[in-house]
Amino acid sequence: MEKITLTINNKKVEAEPGMTVLEAARQANIYIPTRCYHRDLAPEGHCRVCLVDIKGQRALQPACAFPVAEGMEVNTHSHAVRDARCSWSSCSSPITRTSV
Ligand code: FES
Repeated sequence: MEKITLTINNKKVEAEPGMTVLEAARQANIYIPTRCYHRDLAPEGHCRVCLVDIKGQRALQPACAFPVAEGMEVNTHSHAVRDARCSWSSCSSPITRTSV
């Protein structure tokens, strides 16, 4: 099966078709915080902790439920993402960190 190439935080990442943005990021050792995600369960996208900024999308999207697409450009720590995370957690919390 042909791989999908996307960019996460300006890093080229290869993913399998059907993977989520979260799975692609984790495979590339890019940290995205999660809360309700569990790898053995269907993604619900409820907690919104994993929101990311995807170029061309009108709103932030949950990385745990959003499928990868060829040429997709993802930012895991844009101002909008950090503001969204700060709205439901302490901004000094480790959940707002931007590194792996
Ligand atoms: S981890 Fe809860 S919506 Fe993604």
